[in-house]
Amino acid sequence: MRPDGAALVTGASGGIGAAVADRLAGQGWPVGVHYRSDEAGAAEVVERIESGGGSAVALHADVSERDAADRLVGELEDRFGPVLALVNSAGTRADGLAPQLKDEHWDRVIETNLSAAFRLTRRVLRPMLRARYGRVVNIASVVGPRANAGQSNYAASKAGLIAMTHTVAVEVARRGITVNAVAPGFVETGLTADISSEAVAAEIPARRPGRPEEVAACVGFLASDEASYVTGTTLTVDGGMSA
Ligand SMILES: NC(=O)c1ccc[n+]([C@@H]2O[C@H](COP(=O)([O-])OP(=O)(O)OC[C@H]3O[C@@H](n4cnc5c(N)ncnc54)[C@H](OP(=O)(O)O)[C@@H]3O)[C@@H](O)[C@H]2O)c1
Repeated sequence: MRPDGAALVTGASGGIGAAVADRLAGQGWPVGVHYRSDEAGAAEVVERIESGGGSAVALHADVSERDAADRLVGELEDRFGPVLALVNSAGTRADGLAPQLKDEHWDRVIETNLSAAFRLTRRVLRPMLRARYGRVVNIASVVGPRANAGQSNYAASKAGLIAMTHTVAVEVARRGITVNAVAPGFVETGLTADISSEAVAAEIPARRPGRPEEVAACVGFLASDEASYVTGTTLTVDGGMSA
């Protein structure tokens, strides 16, 4: 049975993170709705959760800053108690073919998608180890395990995130903590607004983009008590794209 505690969802001001925040609130978690620039988006998610009878608070941070993990988790603990579920959904891309890719774009994507997820995971393991209960879900991608020209930084960050997920999972498995990744294919969100859905849909066996709610349903399962024996794995949610 789940002890009392809160869930932190990073990048929850829109897209997949917002759908995950809704989902976890529906499963009874008080939720920390983290955002970086979209304050209004985060406020909307908090309002929606509260009007549905749940509890939520908006939390601001740029997760690429080194002290963000400590501050964010501390703020949520002060409000709702120990953080026993973490969903790392904050993510960014800065595409370019390798010969032209700037250091700044490499660093930003690796810091946001990989290093920040590690720092947050490391920080929440403290209360989780104490509670002998925890759920960490990292939003990876089908890009990483497979190539996507123009995304060497993004692919490296997501492949690293999957490797980190699997390794941390085996370190803490005996303490009732599960650590998993969800790897979406193509989902229509702000991150993919510049990509033509019709063109990508032709490459997807399901012949359509995914919806944030379809990714959130998988995260909800991995964060639930029913998934207590699922750890160190990656659940692909891509309409058959990488089958
Ligand atoms: N959409 C897809 O097709 C797809 C496919 C595979 C994987 N994913 C992954 O799914 C996750 C969610 O993406 P999405 O599609 O939902 O995109 P999105 O709507 O653009 O959401 C990205 C979120 O990350 C936050 N963020 C970005 N950089 C940040 C930073 N430095 N510090 C803190 N927060 C930061 C954004 O915050 P603000 O907007 O408040 O700045 C936003 O809430 C990402 O990890 C992405 O790589 C998406």
